[in-house]
Amino acid sequence: MKIGICNDHAGVDYKFRLMEYLSGKGYETVNFGTDTTESMDYPDVAHPLAEAVEAGRVDLGIAFCGTGNGMAMSLNKHRNIRAGLAWNEEIGKLVKQHNNANVLVMPARFIPFGEVIRITDAWLGSAFEGGRHQRRIDKIPCR
Ligand code: RB5
Repeated sequence: MKIGICNDHAGVDYKFRLMEYLSGKGYETVNFGTDTTESMDYPDVAHPLAEAVEAGRVDLGIAFCGTGNGMAMSLNKHRNIRAGLAWNEEIGKLVKQHNNANVLVMPARFIPFGEVIRITDAWLGSAFEGGRHQRRIDKIPCR
């Protein structure tokens, strides 16, 4: 399983720490984010991650920015991306079970790193439930 990770300047520390954690669990990680805390524009890294997920160059994506909203808004401009913002473990689980999010977005400035781990584990460890949720996500794409 190959996971692409992107971040702006607000998520550098969490990106590196999560990459290390995921590598320890046997996941291959690909770094799409900035590696410095110098201010940068989140769409510049969100779009390449979205394209990699859509093309199958990575299986899933994880994104960090300060609130998570800029990343989610940018990623969700891509037709085959369902980027879900999660800030606790239960939402991390539901964003896979109900929304089949193929990119997990977290607000680096508003949750402790321990929550990042719990959310990521919940998301990776859950399965999409299909059924009525499939019907709903089928109605999401742009009109
Ligand atoms: C950067 O200051 C901040 O705007 C960004 O990380 C993110 O929160 C935007 O949605």
